[in-house]
Amino acid sequence: MEQLTYWWQTGVIYQIYPRSFQDSDADGVGDLNGIIQRLDYLQWLGINAIWLSPIFPSPMADFGYDVSDYTGIYPLFGTMEDFDRLLKEVHQRNMKLILDFVPNHTSDQHPWFIESKSSRSSAKRDWYLWRNPKEDGTAPNNWRSVFGGSAWEWDENTQQYYYHGFLKEQPDLNWRNPEVQAAMYDVIRFWMNKGVDGFRIDVLWHVIKDDTWPDNPPNPAYESSMPEYDTLLPLYSTDQPAVHEIVSGMRKVFNEYPDRVMIAEVYLPLDKLMAYYGVNQSGAHLPFNFMLLSLPWTATALSEAINSYEQHLPADGWPNWVLGNHDRPRLATRIGREQTPVAALLLLTLRGTPTIYYGEETGMKDVPVLPAETRDPQGLRMPDKQMSRDPVRTPMQWDDSEYAGFSAARPWLPVAVDYPRINVQAERAQPGSLLQLYRRLIALRHAEPSLQLGSYKEVLANHQLLAYIRKVENQDSFLIILNLTHRPAFFETESTGYSGTVVVATEVNREGTEVQSPIALLGDEGLVIRLKK
Ligand code: GLC
Ligand code: MG
Repeated sequence: MEQLTYWWQTGVIYQIYPRSFQDSDADGVGDLNGIIQRLDYLQWLGINAIWLSPIFPSPMADFGYDVSDYTGIYPLFGTMEDFDRLLKEVHQRNMKLILDFVPNHTSDQHPWFIESKSSRSSAKRDWYLWRNPKEDGTAPNNWRSVFGGSAWEWDENTQQYYYHGFLKEQPDLNWRNPEVQAAMYDVIRFWMNKGVDGFRIDVLWHVIKDDTWPDNPPNPAYESSMPEYDTLLPLYSTDQPAVHEIVSGMRKVFNEYPDRVMIAEVYLPLDKLMAYYGVNQSGAHLPFNFMLLSLPWTATALSEAINSYEQHLPADGWPNWVLGNHDRPRLATRIGREQTPVAALLLLTLRGTPTIYYGEETGMKDVPVLPAETRDPQGLRMPDKQMSRDPVRTPMQWDDSEYAGFSAARPWLPVAVDYPRINVQAERAQPGSLLQLYRRLIALRHAEPSLQLGSYKEVLANHQLLAYIRKVENQDSFLIILNLTHRPAFFETESTGYSGTVVVATEVNREGTEVQSPIALLGDEGLVIRLKK
């Protein structure tokens, strides 16, 4: 093939939440040496790139998304030597390592903020967003914190408010200040110089705010079940036009290094999301596509979402798909275990880079965490709204030993009760398991240019089935048929008859069989068919 392709287009990304993947030193908290111990597993699975949620020193008010030193390692996770070894071991296995960059805010314990807070004349005062109170002493405007409450915190000592879009322990940086930009770009360079292969960028659409600070308007669609943050539309506090200057400034730093990837966390409607690709490759390589995280799990909804995403993509924008992350309910909980094989088949045959959240490949579910044991600040601050993210961050289930092989000590969050059955070791031993299905799908994707780079064309979407073809000129093409319901279904199209060989199926015994339309599918079944030429 002539087209130049990059690893972040053809590869499969795997997100690790470091606290919960593998504990190597029996303190109940996962660590870098634990990740090293499990790299052979990820290689066996066929993973190409690992993204680690933050591993930097942090008071852990938001479990690492409150960074107090951008160029260090949180001691409970290990040392810089451990990190260097991890990077080497990842690269030795021909995999890539992606870190998490948190530009919007630091920890309130970061030396920059401590200095900024020390006096109004501090050299770093303007590194954060300080404002005078209104005449009556109240906060400068009505903006809300994502985690609830006012986004403004009063500082008694210097008699001003500072802005925090998240916790008050996470003050927002002032990205209009060139010194802040320079310091943060140097953070990216620090890790790039070590050989890190890219960054996932935290809440990128938040980094620039309207600097006339108008009140946000009320949200007419607000319902009481929603978080308090949603009472207002964040019209002036997020996704400002000027954010794209920052995005392209960041991209320039990435471009100083060959072959690195810039992934952006952006939760916005499609038209706004696409702007984060930038014009002529001046933005993120992959603004995360989170559509599948909240969609109703039906064939027609999926069809609409995929077509709409494909239509909105800029001509030079590479697609990507995400089924789960450390902030959202796990797939098996959201759509039910019967459908997880269908979802795996979808994720790994769609056009674009797939990201797998740790444990999804075994079918892990959200684990209930009692209110008294809740650790997540979002959960603690909105106890009535079921907003805790602890259930999706529980220890990886490796085997049927105590604590699921995650740790020799009691883990920081509880282990799922189903772990003796839902774990890597048990599923590796069963050809029909979800884990083995993931492995076969990844292997097929790696072997077939049509699945990596081919076009996407829908051939059928009805109340049960979604079917599409992936195809590259002069290569084998594939018909994918997904039954999104529990009931049997029949695939047939009016215009064309299809025939071929089933190469991967959710029901493993079906692999290798010849099929020809009409094709009968079991409930919850998915097929990848190599079409006859
Ligand atoms: C992102 C992270 C989330 C964190 C928030 C604040 O959304 O994914 O975990 O709490 O940013 O940094
Ligand atoms: Mg540990």
